[in-house]
Amino acid sequence: MAVFCRSAASLVKPVFLLPSTFAAVRHYSSGGQFQYILVDKKGDNNNVGFIQLNRPKALNALCDGLIIEVNKALDSFEQDSGVGAIVITGSERAFAAGADIKEMQNRTFQECYGGSFLSHWNKISTVKKPVIAAVNGFALGGGCELAMMCDIIYAGEKAQFGQPEILLGTIPGAGGTQRLTRAVGKSLAMEMVLTGDRISAQEAKQSGLVSKVFPVDQLVSEAIKCGEKIASNSKLVAAMAKEAVNAAFELTLAEGNRLEKRLFHSTFATEDRKEGMTAFVEKRKAMFKDN
Ligand code: HXC
Repeated sequence: MAVFCRSAASLVKPVFLLPSTFAAVRHYSSGGQFQYILVDKKGDNNNVGFIQLNRPKALNALCDGLIIEVNKALDSFEQDSGVGAIVITGSERAFAAGADIKEMQNRTFQECYGGSFLSHWNKISTVKKPVIAAVNGFALGGGCELAMMCDIIYAGEKAQFGQPEILLGTIPGAGGTQRLTRAVGKSLAMEMVLTGDRISAQEAKQSGLVSKVFPVDQLVSEAIKCGEKIASNSKLVAAMAKEAVNAAFELTLAEGNRLEKRLFHSTFATEDRKEGMTAFVEKRKAMFKDN
């Protein structure tokens, strides 16, 4: 792909960019593209896609525009062959305090049911690349649901998780009753959904909602480190591993084991599987090429 760049010293020169490089330029360097999020690539090899929710005055309340922007950023990272994992975070005060209540306040049932209200919210649960939520501060309502759509949740030690929709006369609508129950079990999920009470990062860790808790100021860098570890493996095989684990939430044990076996067999059709095992035998580091 040729792009024409004008430098001070020269006339117009064609510069050849690989498709992934072009995507990176197009999506990450145009600062004015996003209003509600910051998008970047992190890690020593620039292989971790990074999305920061950035609506501080509203504690990152998830307005329609913000969700649309997150979806666009996810799409561009999915297409970017240099990205092997994605980190999504908020600020130290709030990951996200929920769907935007002011935006929802006057909606009618007819608009919600007849229109496409919330239909674009589950994008994050459909991307193939592993997504890590780095949660500091409030993760409430839709904010908690967004985190639970990710594959791994890391929490800062002051994080608070909750589904307080009941206090607003409604219930979770982006998977909160389903994903929370699978993560923490019925009793705690019921208690949180029925009372609106929040749980701390430590309780979230104890109950299995999050995998690790870090000091507030180390959370994001630890999430990026985890993303780098994931991105150093075969992206192709990582997608298979993710698909297999996710199947555990939807299939019976027998069906899930069958799917896992098929995916396991499929890894033997990849160069990366051959490289991984050969590297082990030759006592060297594997060089995966994602094919
Ligand atoms: C819109 C919000 C908001 C939200 C906070 N703000 N949460 N705006 N939608 N969900 C705004 C406040 O209106 C205020 O703006 C500013 O952020 C700071 O909030 P304060 O309340 O002043 O801060 P604080 O006293 O520290 O309290 C923090 C808080 C509280 C505990 C997080 O803001 C709160 O309870 N927020 C609502 C949490 C919630 O109910 N979430 C679920 C939403 S329903 P102004 O301009 O007024 O000063 C939901 C449904 C999901 O998520 C369904 C599927 C998508």
